[in-house]
Amino acid sequence: MIGLCTDHLGLDLDRALGEWEGALEAARAGLLARKGVPGSFLGWMDLPEDTETLRAVRRYREGVDFAEDLVHIGIGGSSLGALALEEALGEGRVRVHPVDHVEPTPLKRLLDRLDPRRTLVHVVSKSGTTLETLSAFALFLDWLKKGTPDWRRHVVVTTDPSRGPLRRFAQEEGLASFSIPEEVGGRYSVLSPVGLLPLAFSGADLEALLSGARMANEVARRPLGENLPLKTALLQHLAWLEGRGITVFMAYSARMRHVPAWFVQLHDESLGKRDREGRRVGTTALPALGPQDQHAQVQLFREGPLDKLIVLALPLQDEPLVIPEGPGLPGFLPGRTFLDVLQAEALATEEALAQAGQRVYTLTLDRVDAYHLGWLLQHLMWQTAFLGELWGVNAFDQPGVELGKRLALERLEKDGRFQ
Ligand code: PA5
Repeated sequence: MIGLCTDHLGLDLDRALGEWEGALEAARAGLLARKGVPGSFLGWMDLPEDTETLRAVRRYREGVDFAEDLVHIGIGGSSLGALALEEALGEGRVRVHPVDHVEPTPLKRLLDRLDPRRTLVHVVSKSGTTLETLSAFALFLDWLKKGTPDWRRHVVVTTDPSRGPLRRFAQEEGLASFSIPEEVGGRYSVLSPVGLLPLAFSGADLEALLSGARMANEVARRPLGENLPLKTALLQHLAWLEGRGITVFMAYSARMRHVPAWFVQLHDESLGKRDREGRRVGTTALPALGPQDQHAQVQLFREGPLDKLIVLALPLQDEPLVIPEGPGLPGFLPGRTFLDVLQAEALATEEALAQAGQRVYTLTLDRVDAYHLGWLLQHLMWQTAFLGELWGVNAFDQPGVELGKRLALERLEKDGRFQ
């Protein structure tokens, strides 16, 4: 399961839940009342139930026998979640290479390393119009066409069900394709084929992933006292009211190293915007990794401004890998497990930050596996959606991001070089 530890939070959560019950219930009711309303972009709630798509992804995977490498082209919501899941769960049966940039040297190096006859290119874009994605796709398409006669078998497209240039291209060329449902926005799409397809190739328990996400859905509908996303949304909300403008997501797990970056996008792009009265709202999410960042950012978290809420994510179980005798180790360490060390490090951070006056809580995962990753990601989507209601913002649009996309295209149309 996923649990919440507030031992070092420095406030009485049960009391706060009592005080905020009305607002939290109104947030939940407001959100759920829009479910099914076109344009409300709440389709992410249904993705864990979509076993038909899961079967289609599996069927497709079974029909592709040539792939040793998979290039996943996409950016933002079309990339970060897939990357986080791949790093945590992928078994490496097919090597997955994310392409979420347009830097020439890494693009060229990747092309030089791969064999087009053994490569599958997965291009992902909800809109089908994103500049970085389309440019990189054009490059890989050209490479496939020159390197393999049946290039069409080497391309799979994930995009809007009916609109956009990538959907048209897939139809015209008769390519394999999957859909990001119309009512699912980019950063909420990780449990659609965006994240499922690469995992099906690298090898992971997709059913467990969706089953964990279904558990998050169930918990989000429970009464307040048992409702994890309403509780964590309240903790985020209270920190914001206290003037803590930064929320750090610190994963104590190397396998979860890309989850913080996925969370940063989800939180910042969903919540940093004008509210209904036109006021600027939002807190800045920061990614961190434990224990590495104990030797870096934690100095600032402890002695810098008291402007943070720090969320740790910590596994409770793992391989019983034991520390042997070794030079310099204190006598009590040999025989203890690496998990003991990891957990001691996390608890030490929690205590050090609490002593300094930062707000801190821990999300515990029984283990880092498909079930708990599915639960965690879906939980964080619920938390974000509830916060959107509390802060009076539309958590499902991104006008600032869209503006950046438009301005980049306008610059390129004129010239675009940095003078
Ligand atoms: O969350 C979002 O909507 C964005 O971050 C998009 O995922 C990102 O801009 C990529 O867009 P697209 O999937 O249309 O290429």
